[in-house]
Amino acid sequence: MSTPSILILPGDGIGPEVMAEVRKVIAWFGAKRALHFEVTEDLVGGAAYDAHGTPLTDATMARAQEADAVLLGAVGGPKYDDLDFSVKPERGLLRLRKEMDLFANLRPAQCFDALADFSSLKREVVAGLDIMIVRELTSGIYFGEPRGIVTEGNERVGINTQRYTESEIARVARAAFDLARRRSNKVCSMEKANVMESGILWREVVQKVRDTDYPDIALSHMYADAGAMQLCRWPKQFDVIVTDNLFGDLLSDAAAMLTGSLGMLPSASLGAPMANGRPKALYEPVHGSAPDIAGQGKANPIACILSFAMALRYSFDQGAEATRLEAAIDAVLAKGLRTADLLGPEGGSPVGTAAMGDAILVALDESL
Ligand code: IPM
Ligand code: MG
Repeated sequence: MSTPSILILPGDGIGPEVMAEVRKVIAWFGAKRALHFEVTEDLVGGAAYDAHGTPLTDATMARAQEADAVLLGAVGGPKYDDLDFSVKPERGLLRLRKEMDLFANLRPAQCFDALADFSSLKREVVAGLDIMIVRELTSGIYFGEPRGIVTEGNERVGINTQRYTESEIARVARAAFDLARRRSNKVCSMEKANVMESGILWREVVQKVRDTDYPDIALSHMYADAGAMQLCRWPKQFDVIVTDNLFGDLLSDAAAMLTGSLGMLPSASLGAPMANGRPKALYEPVHGSAPDIAGQGKANPIACILSFAMALRYSFDQGAEATRLEAAIDAVLAKGLRTADLLGPEGGSPVGTAAMGDAILVALDESL
């Protein structure tokens, strides 16, 4: 079999810094575990705009389609705030998601034991938390037509459309049920069926897919607002949550914060299987480009490294090596190593981005 390929798109802000640490980890797996990847790099977001006047060139889009997995850092920054909407950095990311048809976005919210006191919630509410939000990523109000800002009479109107077809709902439901079978066979679906027709259809289709093909899954339904409340009240009642694009955007940020640090959370965006059996896939940390600390060597590389762990698991069928990497990160945290975002109110002295990456390599060596 040919060497699997990874396209790295570091993007903006802290993206390049954290991605440099991922590269070290990828090199470690080549040197110590004989897991080799053909790694190439390209531009996305503001970095691509600066070089080419567009947040994603057609050439980069084509390379992403060809790659076995894409790893993305972050896009955006205040420098680009005044750009026309059509060339904003975020449009590059949305184009990747849409054209690769990455309909299932997996966002784990896992509370690392060493960080349980970091949450704004009480330790007992979050300790041991391990939930997975499956967010629909290529449809709904993010992409629905009609959209735009139009003039009606003497004022302007902003329009976006929430739109879901049955097949779009069914395929993301299947992704959630398949995942639940690898966890604890429990899924909660969230929508607003009390006020939105798209929510009524969502609930109906998710239930039907479950009844037809996944009778072993315990499925419950919740209105998304109540779901947000329950996530803050007692998050451990959930295991897999499946929801639409916009609710998933909001709920996954809330779930991320439960765990104490956005700097810790990875994500995987998966599409249909390619000819070689691997799913189309893009992996990215949930945190953004953090322009306030960009270029200072302070950023936490863990979310981005954990995104590579997800790539090992979901694209390259290397679950045991993914677990090795996750355990190495656990070990480093247990030793008390902290980047600045992981220091509590009592303070302490933080390590920088590169030192955190190096410590993870040491822990990987110790795992052998
Ligand atoms: C996310 C982000 C993106 C989104 C932005 C950057 C377009 O918030 O991945 O959650 O809204 O989907
Ligand atoms: Mg978001």
